[in-house]
Amino acid sequence: MFGSLRLKMLNREAASGKNKPEVIIKSLDIKNGMIIADIGAGGGYFTFEFSKTVGENVYAVDTSQNALAFISNKSKEEMINNIKAILAYENGFMLPETADLFFLRNVFHHLSNSDEYLQNIKRFLKRDGKLAIIDHQKNGFSFIGLFDHFVPEEMIIETVEKAGFRVLEKFDFLPNQAFILFEQTKSV
Ligand SMILES: C[S@@+](CC[C@H](N)C(=O)[O-])C[C@H]1O[C@@H](n2cnc3c(N)ncnc32)[C@H](O)[C@@H]1O
Repeated sequence: MFGSLRLKMLNREAASGKNKPEVIIKSLDIKNGMIIADIGAGGGYFTFEFSKTVGENVYAVDTSQNALAFISNKSKEEMINNIKAILAYENGFMLPETADLFFLRNVFHHLSNSDEYLQNIKRFLKRDGKLAIIDHQKNGFSFIGLFDHFVPEEMIIETVEKAGFRVLEKFDFLPNQAFILFEQTKSV
């Protein structure tokens, strides 16, 4: 259950300089006209950042009604009309159109059936679309490791490749997170 305090906290964490949000966004090479789905959008920090560039639709997808209400209210207050909130269920979601980019930051470790979720993503990803995954990496004794809030980078890659993607680029500028950009393999 996410209250607005927790959602604001998520946004502060996402916006913090140490988490390099501006470098993340630059790495994604976002262009006007792209359709983006921010999966597990939380407080929507990245959803709102994407909405400044794309012009077209940005989908905030989350299993939390509270998170979606928070994002919708903020969009109304700020008179932003290209953000659409989509309620996900545990193993997937529906979008009204296909997207150019799926973005999952600190969400992959929440997925109880990542194989099924990735097939759902593929269903709504354009043939030349991209999938960006950022997730925590265990680094010594920490909250992240203690509560299993991470998936090792090799395991993310193995799982996503098995679903019919290949690594396009791996970024190493985030100290305690993996950041991998995937594209679909041609044969799938
Ligand atoms: C740690 S927060 C990350 C929020 C945001 N991506 C960020 O970087 O600030 C994880 C989010 O994933 C959402 N979530 C968990 N399981 C999900 C699922 N199966 N589909 C979509 N969202 C999910 C949670 O409700 C929560 O908002």
